[in-house]
Amino acid sequence: MQNRTLYFGDNLEILRKKIKDESFDLIYLDPPFNSNRNYNVLFKEGIQDSPAQIKAFDDSWHWTRESKEAFDYLVTKTNEDISSLMQALEKMVGHNDMLAYLTMMTVRLIELHRVLKKTGSLYLHCDPTASHYLKIVLDAIFWKKNFRNEIIWCYRGAGYPKKDFGKRHDIIFRYSKTDNYIFNLDDVREEYAEATKERFKYHIGNIRKGKDFGAQELNPLGKQPDDWWQIQPLAPSSKERLGYPTQKPEALLERIIKASSKEGDWILDPFCGCGTTVAVSEKLKRNWVGIDVTSLAINLIKYRIKNQFGLGNKQIFVDGLPTDLAGAKELFEKDPFEFEYWASDLVNAIPPHGKSKDNMRGADKGVDGVINILRNIVNGNKEYGKIIVQIKGGKVQRNQIATLKGDVDREKAEAGVFITLEKPTKPMKSEAVDAGTFTIPITNKVEFPKIQILTIEELLRGKKPDLPRYGLVKNYYKEAKASEMGGGGLVREGLGL
Ligand SMILES: C[S@@+](CC[C@H](N)C(=O)[O-])C[C@H]1O[C@@H](n2cnc3c(N)ncnc32)[C@H](O)[C@@H]1O
Repeated sequence: MQNRTLYFGDNLEILRKKIKDESFDLIYLDPPFNSNRNYNVLFKEGIQDSPAQIKAFDDSWHWTRESKEAFDYLVTKTNEDISSLMQALEKMVGHNDMLAYLTMMTVRLIELHRVLKKTGSLYLHCDPTASHYLKIVLDAIFWKKNFRNEIIWCYRGAGYPKKDFGKRHDIIFRYSKTDNYIFNLDDVREEYAEATKERFKYHIGNIRKGKDFGAQELNPLGKQPDDWWQIQPLAPSSKERLGYPTQKPEALLERIIKASSKEGDWILDPFCGCGTTVAVSEKLKRNWVGIDVTSLAINLIKYRIKNQFGLGNKQIFVDGLPTDLAGAKELFEKDPFEFEYWASDLVNAIPPHGKSKDNMRGADKGVDGVINILRNIVNGNKEYGKIIVQIKGGKVQRNQIATLKGDVDREKAEAGVFITLEKPTKPMKSEAVDAGTFTIPITNKVEFPKIQILTIEELLRGKKPDLPRYGLVKNYYKEAKASEMGGGGLVREGLGL
């Protein structure tokens, strides 16, 4: 297994095909689950026609033929505990998205249990919508005796429901694989409360009901943490914030990783999102593997790790994204949206505002990606401009270039880049040349093509768009951190948040 590997794809398939038994010391998973989604939606009956397409931000796993097959597999091909549990859950919750969610989680948790070392631990992050069901699933897979903690992650926040108590916590279940597991208590001790320190300052004995329990002292390394953790989620202005929805704070992962692994151990996050687990693992000198089903997450993590730790391209391994034309065609046929994300990344573009898997056209019609460039610096203030990117996987023709020209004007962009899987025709090329050139103040009158066409094949060979190098904002993570547009502005804008 290769340290610093990011797998692009469905974790179930990757776990089954690529990960050997007992490979990891620690697994943290934060599966998609929208806590705002209410029970009525989750318990709606009926099979949906579309396959269980797992979407990055929608968070929903529907009851489809795919989940029905997984359910049948769990009932007939696993073991009696799991089989009877699934049948009981079916009776209890019915055929709906909640059963689909539990089914999809169960098949994955069985694989995660398999890839965990005997001394390893698993932390499952969830919320009260499904935590009670997930705990029974975990008990069936890990056995009740290996349940270690139900950690309550509590935080403050704005806004309260009118007729309920404020909902201000997540749940993290901690299980070990056996009773011989790693727990580094001294690495996660906390500072004692001031009142406790004060009390112990004058304490000379511990006499209760006349019995002397001997002198007690505070542990110089600090207090043993309880199973409720008060850690603030990332504020909108936080420097750590990348704009990825559901991003967790590094402090949370730091405690988990320090408690349940040592330097050099192997950590897996099968739903790695924007890579909080892998970034903290890198910081704490652990080996790591991340899996995510969206290439946007994979690309973001690559940038996050490269920038945060000064690593080069060759030190991070991405598995599952196309490296040749055949792979690119395959990705386009399988998932045109992921193809767009992937192709955008080849030119350092970010998704435009309002674009998501549910809204393929996005809010900005005709824009598949945006490259932000630095136009000018006036009195120390940076002024940004944008290049719009259009990506085509299917047949291409001349009028698409004419349309791109119109889109550039409408969007008040500097220029347009047209990326295509197919070779462009001669009329397309002349239409692009006819569009002329542009220049920006910072490049001192140097001219660049207003419209340019690049094939995926050329990009894979290393060709780059002809754009102002000086002004090109090379990647969104770095820019998000340094941005003077205000705390991760580019990324937030890019993800349409
Ligand atoms: C709640 S987010 C994780 C956030 C992460 N903890 C962080 O701090 O950034 C869940 C992630 O799971 C991914 N995902 C959903 N279904 C998946 C699957 N079947 N295989 C791999 N990743 C999946 C989504 O794309 C999303 O990035």
